[in-house]
Amino acid sequence: MIVGVLTGGGDCPGLNAAIRATVRGLVADEHDAVGIRDGWRGLAQGALLPLTRRAVAGILPRGGTILGTSGYDPFREEGALEATLERCSALGLGGVVAIGGEGTMGIAHRLHVEHAFPVVGVPKTIDNDLAGTDVTIGFDTAVHVCTEAIDRLHSTAESHNRVMVVEVMGRHTGWIAAASGIAGGADVILVPEEPRAIEDACDHIRRRHDDGKDFSIVVVAEGYSLTRRSGEQDELVVQDVDAYGFARLGGIGRVVADEITRLTGFQSRVTVLGHVQRGGTPTARDRLLATRLGLKAAELASSGTWGRMAASRGGEIVDVSLEEAIATRKGVPPEWIRGGRVVA
Ligand code: F6P
Repeated sequence: MIVGVLTGGGDCPGLNAAIRATVRGLVADEHDAVGIRDGWRGLAQGALLPLTRRAVAGILPRGGTILGTSGYDPFREEGALEATLERCSALGLGGVVAIGGEGTMGIAHRLHVEHAFPVVGVPKTIDNDLAGTDVTIGFDTAVHVCTEAIDRLHSTAESHNRVMVVEVMGRHTGWIAAASGIAGGADVILVPEEPRAIEDACDHIRRRHDDGKDFSIVVVAEGYSLTRRSGEQDELVVQDVDAYGFARLGGIGRVVADEITRLTGFQSRVTVLGHVQRGGTPTARDRLLATRLGLKAAELASSGTWGRMAASRGGEIVDVSLEEAIATRKGVPPEWIRGGRVVA
């Protein structure tokens, strides 16, 4: 059987490790793999590249994706669905392994249920918000990058008696903010799941100052909306809309910093970590997760178990339905959010 492999949506560290494991798992089961370029677009437009055991040598520690990626959706582009289905049969593809987040899994699911398309998924996103799996590829590396940044900001915050606001990614959920904030010992963590009132955050910062700690670190997820004690909430801070019609978030850090300065009088500075969180080499944990999930995807494809997603549950690698993966969004549990406040 020939199996196509693609990466869709935003890139993240660990994609290449997943591609490598998928290809090698397929080859071990005596199948052939072919790379599909730039996500679902490559299937619709026939942009392919050969993927042998040899072709994936040396990519394990590399960030990004050797296949390229995009937010292309065959259900939203004129004629793309027909082209995708025709290309698949013309190439004699027995199935596709789609490595991606909620958008990619949503497309895979629709193709599977509406067109009997043979597909299995592998979960990735630094945001870690995909349901069905405890963790997604890329999350650990992003948390590592943000924790290191918070550590570094501590010393400069302390030297200048400043409030340092760190804006991290997480459009719908605050996983990166909560994990790196707790690991980095942040004083305030602001996430979309339980948006803390800015006045409460300022009270906490003032209490610290009264206790002799005249600097503070605030971590805010890009998807947090400025919320007031009255319950009033601002709109999300959006930069613009991307080529696929999705809102590009970013800028809440500035809003939060200005509000803290206005309410407390303390000097503040903003650091936006942006795409640094998505770049570079994956951590050992992400390489291991990506390898285990890629091997599981190859096993599912080999046995013709389509419509499933490889997943990590309680440390075990299992498979779940694509439907389960997209049915809900996995948010930060309340226990993490409260715990982050208790230790701050
Ligand atoms: O979904 C992952 C993510 O990193 C989000 O946290 C962020 O909002 C988005 O991608 C940024 O996407 P882009 O690379 O298109 O700017």
